[in-house]
Amino acid sequence: MSVELRGITKSFGALVANDGIDLRVETGEIHAILGENGAGKSTLMNILYGLLSPDSGQILVDEKPIIISEPSDALAAGIGMVHQHFMLIPVFTVAENIVLGHEKVNGFGVLDLEKARSEIARISKEFNFDVDPDAVVETLPVGIQQRVEVIRALIYNAKVLILDEPTAVLTPQETDELLQVMKNLKKQGTSIIFITHKLREVQEAADRITIIRRGKIVGTALPTASQEDLASQMVGRPVDLTMNKSPAKIGKTLLEISNLTVTDSTGRELIHDISLDVHAGEIVAVAGVQGNGQTEFARAILNLEEHVSGSILVDGKDILGETVRGSLHSGIAFIPESRELDGLIGSFSIAENLILDTFDLAPNAKGLLMSPNTVTNEAVKRITEFDIRSQGANELVSSLSGGNKQKVVLARELSRPVKIVVASQPTRGLDVGSIEFVHEKIVQERDAGRAVLLFSTELDEVFALADRIAVMYRGTIIDIVPATISRSDLGLLMAGVKPKVSS
Ligand SMILES: Nc1ncnc2c1ncn2[C@@H]1O[C@H](COP(=O)(O)OP(=O)(O)O)[C@@H](O)[C@H]1O
Ligand SMILES: [Mg+2]
Repeated sequence: MSVELRGITKSFGALVANDGIDLRVETGEIHAILGENGAGKSTLMNILYGLLSPDSGQILVDEKPIIISEPSDALAAGIGMVHQHFMLIPVFTVAENIVLGHEKVNGFGVLDLEKARSEIARISKEFNFDVDPDAVVETLPVGIQQRVEVIRALIYNAKVLILDEPTAVLTPQETDELLQVMKNLKKQGTSIIFITHKLREVQEAADRITIIRRGKIVGTALPTASQEDLASQMVGRPVDLTMNKSPAKIGKTLLEISNLTVTDSTGRELIHDISLDVHAGEIVAVAGVQGNGQTEFARAILNLEEHVSGSILVDGKDILGETVRGSLHSGIAFIPESRELDGLIGSFSIAENLILDTFDLAPNAKGLLMSPNTVTNEAVKRITEFDIRSQGANELVSSLSGGNKQKVVLARELSRPVKIVVASQPTRGLDVGSIEFVHEKIVQERDAGRAVLLFSTELDEVFALADRIAVMYRGTIIDIVPATISRSDLGLLMAGVKPKVSS
């Protein structure tokens, strides 16, 4: 089934999110829509799926104009969508979820549980999905939960499947599996609209690529196009994707972690007996599949975890048991995994957020009072230095884009005198342009003699930045290897398998 969008325009107030978009998706092709955060990809797909109505424009299915006013119209026309945040009920089984979510569409009757189970089994077998209809959803890995959403769309007979940033929540292995699932679907004639901003995935899976920037289509490309070419079209300026990193000039040990164990309140171990040194002038990446204790490890270093034993020496001084403020003031910059939760206060301005860690220190304070002029002047400097795109120092952080929020965190954390930088998934959810910027800053920190500990589930990021790689598996570090390790050997370690050769 082919789908065509003609002249789709959609504004939100003064913002033109989609500006005269023409797009044609052919039968059985994987069509990637590539664009930075905020480019208008989700808006366009929500229009195609009937969640938003366009201000103008037309949708054609197999050359015939159709009206899609709500998702049931899209489903009836054979268009299904898998959202980034799944709409599954965790305590129910796969089959129960699919029965529950099944509205009556176009005469296709309500499913009973037995029929759902057999349909799930059939689809699972046909596409090699490996989904058990009777599994309870919350016991399934994220990658499998996502397949449940795909199955739901296929049970509605979707011939065009929209996947909006499907890999954002997946581990590298799960991503590879999803790309394979997409190829299987394509073989059976399903068209896929694959939304992403990750270049490697586009090159691996897409038949054609449409690039969208600021609401407009700015180009089309084939997967054979170079990553630099794709990235430049996406960002609208030349992008250099190679990290020109000089060899590390290793200095003394600045961070020395010994026998670190973290338990939850019931005494269950979350991380077990971790020892790791990070030297001045090097980047040590902690790689691993999401959920293997990286979050707890990073938080423990900042004394954000409660039940911790072992020692954490910052330049020789044990900070275990310090307050969080004390840990930050001991010389650690912390770029947290969740900037919304731990990193920033949305209802504060950029200037206020920039001094969250240091508001009680000179020169920001005089005695007990904050000095507003100093604060604003400093903020203006940081906004320029870190290229924070905003209306000014007094703009509320909540109104900034993800990339610019992250730059505020970086600007705050990297402007203090620190010895160690702990960065947790620092580019998660960012676009290429922002990723390039964050990576440059991290390398600059290394070259300024800081010890950098980077937590990342993105292999590309690990390989771009790391001098050494510590691999976490089930709460412990199973190996520390040089950054010259092959992608496949690192993948094996991440799955808990030690290859024969390692350091
Ligand atoms: N419901 C909405 N109200 C106002 N602005 C919106 C709404 N949805 C999206 N936008 C804005 O439209 C632009 C495009 O957003 P979106 O389509 O989500 O981009 P993408 O999916 O490419 O990241 C962004 O600037 C976003 O803030
Ligand atoms: Mg989106």
